[in-house]
Amino acid sequence: MAALSPLLQGTAAERLPRYTSYPTAPNFTPAIDNVVARDWLRALDPSATASLYFHVPYCRALCWYCGCHTKIPSDDAAISHYVDALLAEIDLVAALLPARLGVTHLHWGGGTPTIIGPSAMHRLYEAIFRNFLIEAGAEIAIEIDPRMLTSEMAMALGTCGFTRASLGVQTFDPVVQHAIHRIQSADATEAAVRRLRSAGIRAINFDLIYGLPHQTVASCVKTAERVLALAPDRVAVFGYAHVPAVKANQRHIDQTALPDAAMRFAQAEAIAETFVAAGYRRIGLDHFAKSDDPLTHALDAGTLHRNFQGYTIDRADALLGFGASAIGRLPQGYVQNTPRIAAYREAAAAGRLAVARGYALTAEDRLRAAVIERLMCDLTVDLQAVAAMHLPSFDFTRERAHLAELASDGLLEIDGARVTVRAAMRPFVRRIAAVFDIARNAGTTHAPAV
Ligand SMILES: C[S@@+](CC[C@H](N)C(=O)[O-])C[C@H]1O[C@@H](n2cnc3c(N)ncnc32)[C@H](O)[C@@H]1O
Ligand code: SF4
Repeated sequence: MAALSPLLQGTAAERLPRYTSYPTAPNFTPAIDNVVARDWLRALDPSATASLYFHVPYCRALCWYCGCHTKIPSDDAAISHYVDALLAEIDLVAALLPARLGVTHLHWGGGTPTIIGPSAMHRLYEAIFRNFLIEAGAEIAIEIDPRMLTSEMAMALGTCGFTRASLGVQTFDPVVQHAIHRIQSADATEAAVRRLRSAGIRAINFDLIYGLPHQTVASCVKTAERVLALAPDRVAVFGYAHVPAVKANQRHIDQTALPDAAMRFAQAEAIAETFVAAGYRRIGLDHFAKSDDPLTHALDAGTLHRNFQGYTIDRADALLGFGASAIGRLPQGYVQNTPRIAAYREAAAAGRLAVARGYALTAEDRLRAAVIERLMCDLTVDLQAVAAMHLPSFDFTRERAHLAELASDGLLEIDGARVTVRAAMRPFVRRIAAVFDIARNAGTTHAPAV
């Protein structure tokens, strides 16, 4: 097992954001409400491109590890009421926009978005295509729980033009599956992949987790090897974020069976070695992609981006979020819908945006966001070049002092204005990104640093 130095042990135990945005969601405030969001939508440039995110916060059963915003619906009527609210919100947002915007990316997340069923998906697609101009070659992606994917739903996704599916696998180890209350046979995963591919959905992503109860390096490698047999295009490998104070379902997890920081580090590296040995490229903190994947091309071209779904090639001018808890990004800043499903439905029924909080970006925030994004994507950043694009007078005095300390601890190298994370320190990139995060709120909970 890899030994971690005391510094890295401490760093690994720290709770740091995953930096899918900057500032991160805990910094959003109620000052940005539905009235501000309405003005921001109206002010969008008619020629702007958009990507769309739809959140469905329902699952048939809750996995004990899950940190997502989801619940078990009281009955199927709750799901159909939620679909009605989404339909109303799509019309409402589109009516506020200055034009029928071109859309390059659509993403459905949750929860388990396929829970809405084929006919609701068709209704929603009709509303989306009526209100937006879905560009040829747009990526249309959805998160899938393989245990719940019926042939009918796979066919419906194919008919609606979905191009990518992200399947939750987490682990194939039966002992770990039992400890996290998610029993999923390799056959169920294989069947889902087959159904999706035969419905015409060619791009397949898998999600794996390390750091789960009873997980070992051997069990992680075995799971990675089984995943390779199914040849996904991309794999996301998340470190288990255990936050039982916030997520009641995680209180069922036996904390004494959780691997420590050194074990987590060894698991993450063993999984990475397995994928890299099989020809996958390592992307940023936690993704792997085939060498001919668009994500790999973007990495090589320096055009990789990071958004709420992780690493992406999405470069749209605006992100419009639909559904309870969904986050949008407009030129002025971030907006987030209320996470409370009843309040979300109420707003949609009253013809009101459900935005409950957000954040107005300053020039300095944009600079910090750009530096953090480059570090998270490329593991290197030229501070002067990024500052020149956003706030040329900014000199990073405070950050440079902190970076020098991290350099002497061996985490990174500094060459003039260029900061580069050392190859072996990739798992600690969030520690380096955090140097630029002045908005970081000590009281918030995030995923562990490894
Ligand atoms: C929103 S879930 C949707 C996936 C789908 N519902 C399923 O279960 O297959 C997306 C991914 O988040 C990851 N995830 C959820 N909770 C997590 C946690 N506490 N720590 C790390 N990753 C987590 C899992 O890998 C999961 O597949
Ligand atoms: S991991 Fe997926 S299926 Fe499990 S509770 Fe979370 S969102 Fe639902």
